[in-house]
Amino acid sequence: MKILEITGGQTLSGTIRISGAKNSAVALIPAAILSDEDVTICNVPAITDTEALCDILVYLGVKIKRASESIVITSNQMENKKITATYSKKLRASYYFMGALLGKFGKVTMSLPGGCSIGARPINLHLKGFEALGATVTINKNCYTIEAEELKGANIYLDFPSVGATINIMLAAVRAKGKTVIDNAAKEPEIVNVATLLNSMGAKIRGAGTSSIEITGVSYLGKCFHEVIPDRIEAGTYVILGAACGENLKIDNIIPDHIEALTSKLEEMGVYLDIGADYIIVSHTAPYHPIHVKTQTYPGFPTDLQQPLTVLLTQCSGQSKIEETIYENRFMHIPYLNQMGADIRIKNQSATIIGPSKLQAADVVATDLRAGAALVIAGLIAEGKTKVTNVEHILRGYENIVEKLTSVGAKVEIREI
Ligand code: EPU
Repeated sequence: MKILEITGGQTLSGTIRISGAKNSAVALIPAAILSDEDVTICNVPAITDTEALCDILVYLGVKIKRASESIVITSNQMENKKITATYSKKLRASYYFMGALLGKFGKVTMSLPGGCSIGARPINLHLKGFEALGATVTINKNCYTIEAEELKGANIYLDFPSVGATINIMLAAVRAKGKTVIDNAAKEPEIVNVATLLNSMGAKIRGAGTSSIEITGVSYLGKCFHEVIPDRIEAGTYVILGAACGENLKIDNIIPDHIEALTSKLEEMGVYLDIGADYIIVSHTAPYHPIHVKTQTYPGFPTDLQQPLTVLLTQCSGQSKIEETIYENRFMHIPYLNQMGADIRIKNQSATIIGPSKLQAADVVATDLRAGAALVIAGLIAEGKTKVTNVEHILRGYENIVEKLTSVGAKVEIREI
């Protein structure tokens, strides 16, 4: 088990370079198997979630070549085997093999996906989409078999603009016969990144990034070269950290538009931000005003930044509020923040944060990825030495977090216990 030890109270300055987006890369890697030729993806973050997907590729007989940040995927001799729980449970995004294998072979058998325990996280919309394309779904002892003699384009309306369902349906529909329209589709930048990869391979997708995506099926997908977009959630996490304890902390290699919901809210609090074309420079510019935040689908405030932001709100003078509307169980960091001296009350799906609070170091647990990121920020501004366990969750989504933090003056160490 890994433990992160953080000695709080340092002022952070320098540059943090943002890696490729986890939630893009984890869809692009399974998407690549739809091609029978070489697919090169660069700016792939070295995180345990992308490693787990590469393990699945190798298990399926896909050839992969890794060179620093790029990966070449060759799937012309792969086998369509059942993806067992050992592989599928390692991460949420294993479910993208459903759409990709269904698109490529017309059949997929795999166990339930894993991922953070932040809610029930059903996949009914993915399955409804596959069924609309003509597939049948059989579930036996937590194992899904989805198959179709022929996938046929269809009009699909999503009851909720689910990121996973939108991408999964796109993956199957690119090889379906005829036209598919996904209405009420998710609009996250990761959807656009995946559609761009598929189009470079020869797919015909229009409207990605809007709520209506039109896909005209093609019979062959070829080689391409593609780049993962910068991780907007990693970027947002470090911008929040800079507002908490930075001095001219530069968050570099980002697309500021992708985190506009966050930067607007930070400015409303009184955080001064120097926003450039591909960077943000941020300093601790308290006193901060309390704010109200409601998580929403893109371009609304991202649920993934709600947990890190909570920590900053403990430093505002007055009462802030966070309403979580996407997941039922995304406040698990809060008891730990209270243990560190915060005053946060949860009622139903809202958290009321009363600040400012002086945080003290404590022994805490990263219950999920973004809860872990929140506790790292808390540890960095707290007095004393904070120990975070279950660090594995954090390493699923933040590339080289210890090196990045250390390079800007943080005292952070990771140890095996
Ligand atoms: N939902 C359903 N049925 C479905 C699919 C989703 O009811 O078939 C519900 C979910 O239960 C949830 C909501 O819809 O309440 C949103 O789910 P969505 O499908 O949009 O999320 P996801 O694809 O499971 C991705 C990211 C999450 C991120 C969400 C929202 C990946 C691998 N995961 O999850 O990232 O929070 O979109 O933006 O892309 C993270 O990075 O920490 C993380 C959890």
